[in-house]
Amino acid sequence: MRYKLSRSTHAPSRRRFLAAGLAALGAGGLRSALVRAAEAPALRKLAAEKGLIYGTTIAATQITGDPPFVDLVRHEAGLVVAENEMKWQVMNRGGPEEDDYGPADTIANFASVNELVLRGHNLLWYHRTPNWYFDLADRQQQERAVIDHIQQLAGRYRGKIHSWDVVNEPIEPKDGRPGGLRNAVFFETLGPEYLDLAYHAARDADPKALLVVNEYDIELDAPEQEARRSALLHLLERMRRSGTPVDAVGIQAHLTAAGGRPFSAPLLRKFLAELAGLGLTIQITELDVTDENVPADVTVRDRVVADTYGRFLDAALDEPAVKMVVTWGLSDRHSWIVRRETHQTKWRTDDAVPRPLPFDADLEPKPAFDAIAGAFAHAPERAPG
Ligand code: XIL
Repeated sequence: MRYKLSRSTHAPSRRRFLAAGLAALGAGGLRSALVRAAEAPALRKLAAEKGLIYGTTIAATQITGDPPFVDLVRHEAGLVVAENEMKWQVMNRGGPEEDDYGPADTIANFASVNELVLRGHNLLWYHRTPNWYFDLADRQQQERAVIDHIQQLAGRYRGKIHSWDVVNEPIEPKDGRPGGLRNAVFFETLGPEYLDLAYHAARDADPKALLVVNEYDIELDAPEQEARRSALLHLLERMRRSGTPVDAVGIQAHLTAAGGRPFSAPLLRKFLAELAGLGLTIQITELDVTDENVPADVTVRDRVVADTYGRFLDAALDEPAVKMVVTWGLSDRHSWIVRRETHQTKWRTDDAVPRPLPFDADLEPKPAFDAIAGAFAHAPERAPG
């Protein structure tokens, strides 16, 4: 049976949270605090008060098929990103120039009608490249295909996208290539310059969008993640030096509540400061927390997941260059972890349904919601970016 957090379980912590906020304010701030307290503490509002944008993934089928979830997204999120619909392989119908923009347009229109910020995810990802691309004979054809794709996709949404993940996951030191770059299909033929080609093409196609390098497994205190961090820093330094347009770095932050690599707040702060030192904006782009290795008991799992969110965000938000937090979904009803869409066949070894996101499958807030709300409330204010 699926556990449902009752309102009464949730309410005291929310009251505590609001009371703490009121106590922290002087008389001048009291009125606006009371106004705020009358509303639910939507994550988007708590984030905005600190100069942050909070957002979530959405899918076109959710927009058309799950109105209660969509209401929750509208209430909580200031930004949406297509979970899959803008990925090249997903939109491609089998040949060059055969992209179906329908589902991506559904999401772009949803953002526009609801005045939500729109992220673009992504222009190139080795893992979601159409099959026909792998058959292209030579360098020239591959270059043309990359440029055409970026011109068409980024060009279609020109002026509407806040930030584009131009190349997703370019780093993999284990591949043994120079600079720790991933031996992606683009790298094989075009070499490291594929990155420069892609970022220049994206800048030309949509000059106002922030151009992002988005990467995973760079948050934790483990030698292999250190290698990934150092390769990423090296790449970003090189791009900045050579005038390749890159504005931001995306920290995916797919976290594990227990049994994973250790988390070190000082280490994360140091890494974020190094990225900020390159003049880059930082975005947390795919935050979620798996609960494998935590006992099945829901109360325990929710607490450990919430702690993981809280510790990570408290450290990350200390860095003023962090301007955005996106969770990879909003409710456990729609999570890739629950759907088990991964190379791992299972996230848990028992039959318990994972609970990785701030709202449960019944759209009720969980302790993870309180942890995120609390982290936003405690975060230092920053200039929006
Ligand atoms: C995932 C989606 O959530 C799944 O639905 C899909 O099957 C695979 O991709 N890093 C990324 C995201 O950059 O695009 C991935 O999204 C999760 C890992």
